[in-house]
Amino acid sequence: MISIKNAAQLERMRQAGALLYEVMQKLREVVRPGETTAAIDAYAEELIRKEGALPSFLNYRGYPASICASVDDQVVHGIPTDKQPLQAGSILSIDCGLVLDGWQADSAFTVGVGEISPPLALLIEVTERCFFEGARQAISGNRVGDIGHAVQTLAERHGYGVIRDLTGHGIGRNMHEDPSVPNFGEPGRGARLRPGMTLALEPMISLGSWQVQEMQDGWTITTLDGSPCAHYEHTIAITEDGLPEILTLPGHTWQ
Ligand code: MF3
Ligand code: CO
Repeated sequence: MISIKNAAQLERMRQAGALLYEVMQKLREVVRPGETTAAIDAYAEELIRKEGALPSFLNYRGYPASICASVDDQVVHGIPTDKQPLQAGSILSIDCGLVLDGWQADSAFTVGVGEISPPLALLIEVTERCFFEGARQAISGNRVGDIGHAVQTLAERHGYGVIRDLTGHGIGRNMHEDPSVPNFGEPGRGARLRPGMTLALEPMISLGSWQVQEMQDGWTITTLDGSPCAHYEHTIAITEDGLPEILTLPGHTWQ
């Protein structure tokens, strides 16, 4: 069942989204060679709790941290570690969620560690553009398939692989709600979008193949062919008319 949020509920999700935006900005600043993802995780938890929110990932189905930190060929759900410091030339995806007064926000970005190669920089840039292409389709009356089709079209035009085994999702009181929002699809297919729906759109785009596997730790997802992968996610709200509001990017305006 897809839940529709009223104006008061949307306002609370806006508060959660704005707080997560602040956290993500601060996390971005501490990514550098030599830093550990465990330290970044501890910092994220501190930032979230300091504002009276809770880290939504921690203990979610037994997940042991407040962020997912996925390096290079790790797609998502990488567990923070103090064993392998970040190395220049790598790309790091940080995914984080919080719950504020019972309302969830979920967001992710990929960033280069030190200097990265031009192909990796382009992968990150195009993955972000994939999110915005998808979000542009997230308007009342459109369908879930319109979002996925837009993401897939841009990614595949660059020869990239669109991860299929993991999807975006509805979000609200729970981190994962209906509908599931794949990053591929057919225009005009799937659930119809309505004002007050809140969705986490999260393209996961590989430099090579879209196929993935799960590591021994039971969490980390990597590309099967070892290709680096980027991830970009925001929580959005479908509006009465026109383009969506990006709750985890306060102040964003469409042009
Ligand atoms: N942020 C992820 C998502 O978008 C969820 C992380 S799974 C967890 O669905 F276990 F780490 F919480
Ligand atoms: Co998500």
